[in-house]
Amino acid sequence: MTAEGNDAAAARPPAPTRVLSGIQPTGRFHWGNYFGAIRQYIDLQTAGESYYFIADLHALTTVREPDRLRGLVHDAAVDLVALGLDPDRATLFVQSDVPEVTELTWLLMTVTPMGLLERCHAYKDKKTRGLPADAGLFTYPVLMSADILAYDATIVPVGEDQVQHIEVCRDLAGTFNHLYGEVFTLPKPRLVEGGARVPGTDGQKMSKSYDNTLDVFEDLAAQKKKIMRITTDSRPMEEPKNPDDDHLFALYALMAPESDRLKMADLYRRGGFGYGEVKKALAEAAAQFFAEARARRAALEADPQRIEAILSAGAGRAQAKARDVLDRARRACGLARGKAGKRLAGEKPSGKGGRL
Ligand code: ADP
Ligand code: TRP
Repeated sequence: MTAEGNDAAAARPPAPTRVLSGIQPTGRFHWGNYFGAIRQYIDLQTAGESYYFIADLHALTTVREPDRLRGLVHDAAVDLVALGLDPDRATLFVQSDVPEVTELTWLLMTVTPMGLLERCHAYKDKKTRGLPADAGLFTYPVLMSADILAYDATIVPVGEDQVQHIEVCRDLAGTFNHLYGEVFTLPKPRLVEGGARVPGTDGQKMSKSYDNTLDVFEDLAAQKKKIMRITTDSRPMEEPKNPDDDHLFALYALMAPESDRLKMADLYRRGGFGYGEVKKALAEAAAQFFAEARARRAALEADPQRIEAILSAGAGRAQAKARDVLDRARRACGLARGKAGKRLAGEKPSGKGGRL
């Protein structure tokens, strides 16, 4: 009977929770990145073992200036720790510090149907817009799959746009396991509650690509100016408004404490207020919301060796795990001569994420 059989499943201890996520260092983090991704990572670091990495290999498909990339990786690490990622609880590392992942990418590539990648939106969108795409962008979901499988992750917190890639990951892991035995743990995506889609200064989804971002650690005076320029409609002040379909209110609601949010919603419904007032309140609420993180960031910047030590310790822990998984995969598919496939006796399975 396999481990999937009822008796074995009933006898098996609950799967350990292993959380993993990556974030690309392609620009300074904005509010959308924080509320759509980073905040969840931080909340989940107490859920079990956790791995968070800065996806510099993925960023290479868009950032082609070496010094800028190095700077962005450093800033991302400092930002994450300043925002509350605790390196004593979570393993924080840089993707390229674990080269085992790129070897695993190749193994996965050999079981990846072209059609699966052709359907992936990052590549498909570029192609539809007639833009040139390289093989790095095309195979990006395979690298992402290796990122996840290398650490036996069970839960992957991501924004909605990444769910498709986790499905690809499960697909590839399933095919590999089917061919070579139970090598990989199948992960599950964990979507942000309510599917938060943070609006930008123009009301569209906040994104670096739309030049409508408000950055987490932006200079406060510059940020206030940007906030004062958030687009609003031209309805008269006295007209009551529905807070639920106003992007300025949506931003305020993310930043303000519950009681202020309720008061502001009331003001919207009553009417008789100007958007300028709301913008000022938003600037203050945002400054307050990130005040502690700003202070932590300043302290980290004053001690550059600390962030390097954190990343180096993280890489050591991550690499040890990835090495085990890669060895398991190499043995299973026949690369490691003279060794048995599948998991070795005494090697603990790391738990299965189960079906989506
Ligand atoms: P950008 O669109 O600025 O390039 P990324 O694609 O690098 O942002 O996003 C990194 C992470 O942040 C992803 O998990 C994504 O889902 C999340 N994210 C980005 N923008 C938003 C947004 N406006 N609302 C919610 N989540 C977002
Ligand atoms: N592709 C993800 C993004 O753009 C970043 C990423 C890379 C990732 N590898 C990952 C996220 C593994 C989760 C798991 O947001």
